[in-house]
Amino acid sequence: MEFRTISDSKRAFLPLLLLGDEQEAMINRYLDRGTLWALYDGGLRAVCVVTEEGAGDFEIKNLAVAPESQRQGYGRAMVEHVVRRCRGWGKRLLVGTGDSPLTLPFYEACGFRECGRIEGFFVENYDHPIYEAGRRLTDMVLLDMEL
Ligand SMILES: CC(C)(COP(=O)(O)OP(=O)(O)OC[C@H]1O[C@@H](n2cnc3c(N)ncnc32)[C@H](O)[C@@H]1OP(=O)(O)O)[C@@H](O)C(=O)NCCC(=O)NCCS
Repeated sequence: MEFRTISDSKRAFLPLLLLGDEQEAMINRYLDRGTLWALYDGGLRAVCVVTEEGAGDFEIKNLAVAPESQRQGYGRAMVEHVVRRCRGWGKRLLVGTGDSPLTLPFYEACGFRECGRIEGFFVENYDHPIYEAGRRLTDMVLLDMEL
C-alpha cells in the first residue's frame, strides 16, 4: 500500500472525488487549499482531501474508495494515514457527512464520535437532492476525534 501526496493535476482525481462529494462546485471550494492523498495498491484505491481549519482543527472534506475496492479496509487505512500525518500538527480531526447508514458506521468504526449537526446543509448547499441508501440527506452530521 502506498500513499501519495498529490500536488499537481488534482482534478485528474475528480471521478473518484465525485463519489465522496457529488457536486463539483462544492469540491472546488476546498480542493486547492486542501491536501489530497491518493492510496495505491496495485492501482488507485482511495482518495482523501483534508483541510486545515485553524485553532488546531483538521477536517476530512472528501473520502472515497473506488466502488470495487470498498469493504476491504482501504477507507480505514486512509483515515489512519490522515491521523498519522496530522498528529503533532493539530488537536482535532473533524469530518462532516450525511445522516446515512453507509457512512456513519464507517466513521464510528474508525474512532470518530458525533459532535454536532448542521441542519439543512445538504438542502441549502447542493443544487439537487442527494440520496443515500434510499433516503434524502438533509442535515450534515459532524464527527470528531482527538489527534
Ligand atoms: C464510506 C467509505 C469511505 C468506507 O470505505 P471502505 O474502504 O469501504 O471501508 P472499510 O473497509 O475501511 O471499513 C472499515 C469498517 O467500517 C465499517 N463500515 C464500512 N462501510 C460500512 C457500511 N456500509 N455499513 C456499515 N459499516 C461499514 C465496518 O465496521 C468496516 O469494517 P468491516 O469491513 O470489518 O466490517 C466507502 O464506502 C466509500 O468511498 N463510499 C462512497 C463515498 C462516500 O460515501 N464517502 C464518504 C463521504 S463523507
